[in-house]
Amino acid sequence: MNIIVKKSYSLKGRVTLQGDKSISHRAALILPLCHGDAVVKNFLFAEDTLNSLKAMVMLGADIKIKDNHVLFKSRGLESFKVPNKAIYLGNSGTSIRLLSGILASLKGYSLLYGDESLCKRPMKRIIEPLSRMGAYISSILRNDKAPLLIKGDSLIGIEYDMNIPSAQVKSSILLASLSANGKTVIREKVKTRDHTERMLKYLGADIKIDGEKIILFGGQKLQAKNIFIPADFSSAAFIIAAAALTDDSQVIIENVLLNPTRTGFLKVFEKMGGNFEVFNVREENDEIVGDIKVWSSNLKGVTVEGDIIPTLIDEIPLIAVLAAFAEGVTVISDAKELRYKESDRIESIYYNLKIMGVEAETKEDGLIIQGKSFKRKESYEFYSFKDHRIAMAFSLVGFVLDNVLVYDCENIRTSFPDFIDVFKKINGNIERR
Ligand code: S3P
Repeated sequence: MNIIVKKSYSLKGRVTLQGDKSISHRAALILPLCHGDAVVKNFLFAEDTLNSLKAMVMLGADIKIKDNHVLFKSRGLESFKVPNKAIYLGNSGTSIRLLSGILASLKGYSLLYGDESLCKRPMKRIIEPLSRMGAYISSILRNDKAPLLIKGDSLIGIEYDMNIPSAQVKSSILLASLSANGKTVIREKVKTRDHTERMLKYLGADIKIDGEKIILFGGQKLQAKNIFIPADFSSAAFIIAAAALTDDSQVIIENVLLNPTRTGFLKVFEKMGGNFEVFNVREENDEIVGDIKVWSSNLKGVTVEGDIIPTLIDEIPLIAVLAAFAEGVTVISDAKELRYKESDRIESIYYNLKIMGVEAETKEDGLIIQGKSFKRKESYEFYSFKDHRIAMAFSLVGFVLDNVLVYDCENIRTSFPDFIDVFKKINGNIERR
């Protein structure tokens, strides 16, 4: 599927979005570890999160979908059995890494694999700590990537210093430590998204956050509870960016997740001169939620670096697109993790900025982008690198420069299946082809 986008203005309206991807994964993977019944509302029905649900069903979890809600009847990890088939996790790094943490203590062998992109992503980052806890995990092709063969065992708690900022790695260890003997202490120098910690606490786990340390005691019984999942901030960011880039626009996005470990994009957008207002802020299931109103904006270049990076890591393709239309230079540093995402995002962004004629440079850990240096052309053809966030970010260029075609956009179904429909509703000139 390709996406065609034409010049648009007056993006107007109120938008509600499906639930946050990270929280949906965690609800799918953690609720079955609890005891009792629970209903999850506003779950994200996208390919990645459905892969997490399907994997748990393969392990024996009782999960049903009814009237757009996900219903769990949970009997804990002890009710699971390793499946007699390999578990396919598609494009989803979160599914494979978090599930590995659960399988690390489940007796028997499980085999995990995914699509071409997932099988290229680094897995040593989870193999190493989970092995230290006592699990046997082997990369079948001996390349530290999936397919992964896991033989669960009795685990012991560990002390672990995170050497890369990764919520997936942290969460994998936390899920393993739930059934480990003793205490696990994770030290995070740079804070990453904390949805796992918040959800575990909400479900009754004895988990403590003490400065950089996360402390969890093994052998706890969790209680299933209903969860309402706020709208995905990373999806909302595309609407924020589009409204800012187009003339005469004003959009309200409702019930958006505003967890500070996720909203670094708003800080950068503010520094760029973006016009927005956050209101109706409240708390739901230990997560912060609010509404965002955004208007057309004149943007300027910024420096994006340091500890803010993990809080906006998924929004960097979008920041690069905003930077191309901003006045002045934007420098993005400390973001080497972008090279290990669904594509090497530093290279994918650079390739597409060059199609726009933008003066840009890559660095090992980021990009330098000269704002407003794009060339006016009849049309632009971008390549998605089969990466959902690259596809969606560069689609937005069409709202400003007209006649954009983005190739190979099937993968938007992994995180934001309604992307095109949501933009059509607010006046966006966007079609699938
Ligand atoms: C995620 C963590 C981040 C992020 C990904 C989702 C999560 O990955 O890029 O889209 O749900 O924990 P890393 O933990 O690899 O940085």
